[in-house]
Amino acid sequence: PSEYDFVVVSNRLPVDCTVEDDGSLTWKRSPGGLVTALEPVMKAADGAWVGWAGRPDLEIEPFHNDGIQIIPVPLSSQDIQEYYEGFSNDTLWPLYHDVIAPPAYHREWWDDYVAVNQRFADAAAANSAEGAVVWVQDYQLQLVPRMLREQRSDLTIGFFNHIPFPPYGIFAQLPWRTQIIEGMLGADVVGFQRSADAANFSSAVRRLTNHPTKNPAIEVTIDGQPTRRVVAKAFPISIDSRSFEELARDPAIQQRARDIRKGLGNPKTVMLGVDRLDYTKGIRHRLKAYGELLCDGSIEVGDVALIQVASPSRERVEAYMHLRDEVELTVGRINGQFSTLSHAPINYLHQGFPRDEMVALYLAADVLLVTALRDGMNLVAKEYAASRFDNDGVLILSEFAGASEELRKALLVNPHDIDGLKEAMMRAINMPKADRATRMRSMRKRVLEHDVARWSNVFLKNLAATRSDRHRRI
Ligand code: G6P
Repeated sequence: PSEYDFVVVSNRLPVDCTVEDDGSLTWKRSPGGLVTALEPVMKAADGAWVGWAGRPDLEIEPFHNDGIQIIPVPLSSQDIQEYYEGFSNDTLWPLYHDVIAPPAYHREWWDDYVAVNQRFADAAAANSAEGAVVWVQDYQLQLVPRMLREQRSDLTIGFFNHIPFPPYGIFAQLPWRTQIIEGMLGADVVGFQRSADAANFSSAVRRLTNHPTKNPAIEVTIDGQPTRRVVAKAFPISIDSRSFEELARDPAIQQRARDIRKGLGNPKTVMLGVDRLDYTKGIRHRLKAYGELLCDGSIEVGDVALIQVASPSRERVEAYMHLRDEVELTVGRINGQFSTLSHAPINYLHQGFPRDEMVALYLAADVLLVTALRDGMNLVAKEYAASRFDNDGVLILSEFAGASEELRKALLVNPHDIDGLKEAMMRAINMPKADRATRMRSMRKRVLEHDVARWSNVFLKNLAATRSDRHRRI
């Protein structure tokens, strides 16, 4: 029973394990956009999900969770330090996000990245039926496609990178750049969020390998193997849009949204930020603009309130610890200076929330602030649009988030331009209802039509096409 025709492989499983004081295990939903997107895909498919359960040294047998077959891959404390916190999140994450933070290069981290990728590849190989489709996800597992193909040439292998792929001038810093590219080229289809990411990848292939590229195809020849055609293209990811709309239509959630506003003292405008506490998200820039608006008297506490949800993330990586200190210092300063005994300008929540509560927050918010300095897609922006069936609410969206290529009716901003950000905030606060409705309607149309089911269907169709192509050639 351990062989599946469809296998997804990602570092994170959809559920994250917590060990309670009495030693028992409880499971929570995992953080991040990858899980948001893939969970509905896997619930609809009959397949297995190979990944890590979120705690060190857990040897757990495969199990069924909420309609998904889960196959856990164990990581030791050392793997977590070197492969996950180290190479994935202190080398690749900052490198791929335009070096917003300096990437650290350590050879031991790389060695462990290779070892853990091999473990994931072995687990995927052991659980895949003859001729199965295996879909590998994201920057933590870029070597898996090739490792898998070396063991199992019968498989059809897809790879999708959820985060940006950087321009060659940045990627070239990576001491192991060629190995990474060859690792990804083990897949039949290599997918990216934006066409710019796919172009950056193809340019790295041209600079680092001898494989001829003819966009979007790359001819890969490895000694002793037939030439394979690899397709590198953009497949912008999305969400299960209908499920957000359905929640938003629930009267209990609408009541909760009203209660949230009431709890804030019914301000005229509620602004909302929802992010993992990550330096790519531009939280500091947003706070700076907001603080200046209070300072120069453009907005008044009591009239405008900001809710900032910053869910804990990668808390043992130094850059994240610094960011938390900076954000909390700034929030404290702004609240200290502008709070009254009845109102605080910022409600800062260093917590994750269940989906019901998130949708209530989206309904309660007149303005959603997405000010990422770089973001593969940003699904929070899409969740906001999907939830606003009332065609109200204004989205302020960074040009540096992948979502800005689709949500053209948002107020697009350069988050580095603090004056521009302040202007966009004022424009959002004062936007007439009819204008808000036109913009939201257009964004909703896009998000409802281009949902995550469509994303996975298009990707898997492209994958299936390479397979029939391969059979024709042989
Ligand atoms: C981003 C990445 C995912 C990752 C998520 C949460 O969305 O693309 O691969 O799972 O962040 O980060 P974490 O390190 O907690 O898995």
